[in-house]
Amino acid sequence: MTDPVLLITGASRGIGAAVARRAAAAGYRLALTARAAGPLHALADELGDDGVSPGHVLARPVDVTDWTALTGLVAEVEERFGRLDAVLANAGASVLTSFLGDGGAPPEEWRDLVLTNVLGPALTARATLPALRRTRGHLLLTGSTAGRGVRSGSLYSATKWAVTGLAQAIHAECAGTGVRVTLLQPGLTDTGSIPPSRRDDPRLDPGDVAEAVLYALRQPPHVDVAELVVRPIGRQL
Ligand SMILES: NC(=O)c1ccc[n+]([C@@H]2O[C@H](COP(=O)([O-])OP(=O)(O)OC[C@H]3O[C@@H](n4cnc5c(N)ncnc54)[C@H](OP(=O)(O)O)[C@@H]3O)[C@@H](O)[C@H]2O)c1
Repeated sequence: MTDPVLLITGASRGIGAAVARRAAAAGYRLALTARAAGPLHALADELGDDGVSPGHVLARPVDVTDWTALTGLVAEVEERFGRLDAVLANAGASVLTSFLGDGGAPPEEWRDLVLTNVLGPALTARATLPALRRTRGHLLLTGSTAGRGVRSGSLYSATKWAVTGLAQAIHAECAGTGVRVTLLQPGLTDTGSIPPSRRDDPRLDPGDVAEAVLYALRQPPHVDVAELVVRPIGRQL
């Protein structure tokens, strides 16, 4: 079995699930993770039972802030599939904030946002890069256009700036290893994460973002797509 293996965090819905569907159709074997088991296993059943990829999908509930669970997953993926070729560090959370205290989530809820969006992709990278180095593989990190421009009062935006820096730090360390690193920066995308204040804004479909991911994955080994900015037409951020 030589079909490439792609691990996706935050795979159970939204952008991660859209990437999983397209990657399965493109012939990838998949390792899918999120915290809640129900939606994850439903997606695995859908992809495993559709005749496209029977037996090619491993689904395991993992919190990306849990180092032990992440390393256990990577070991299981290599044991089950024999290799790991690509990783999409995609799990993320979004809450509205105000540093002046003018509304938004209370500070008690900020910890999970920072841990999921910053520690999560950092630990995912650390857990998977040794395996990716063995295959001269590909690490993709889901940042955001909010990690390129200023969003007033937004801690979420600051976490995505951190993902931008993380991608650059990882890329620099991976020089000479054959590992490719791609920073994915979607604009507003029609998933459950859209805040009520942006419901009427132009947005992408999760499938639009998934197409960009598949574009980066399809490139030959000497082509490193460093950044992918995908935004609704007419939007700056
Ligand atoms: N939607 C947008 O407009 C937009 C724009 C730019 C960038 N992004 C980024 O794209 C990524 C995906 O966003 P989305 O809109 O598709 O979000 P979504 O629909 O809310 O899905 C988030 C996924 O991440 C998982 N997740 C959340 N916290 C987790 C944790 N601690 N550990 C493991 N899995 C976790 C969720 O499952 P569980 O809850 O079961 O864990 C779910 O599978 C995020 O990084 C987000 O910041 C989104």
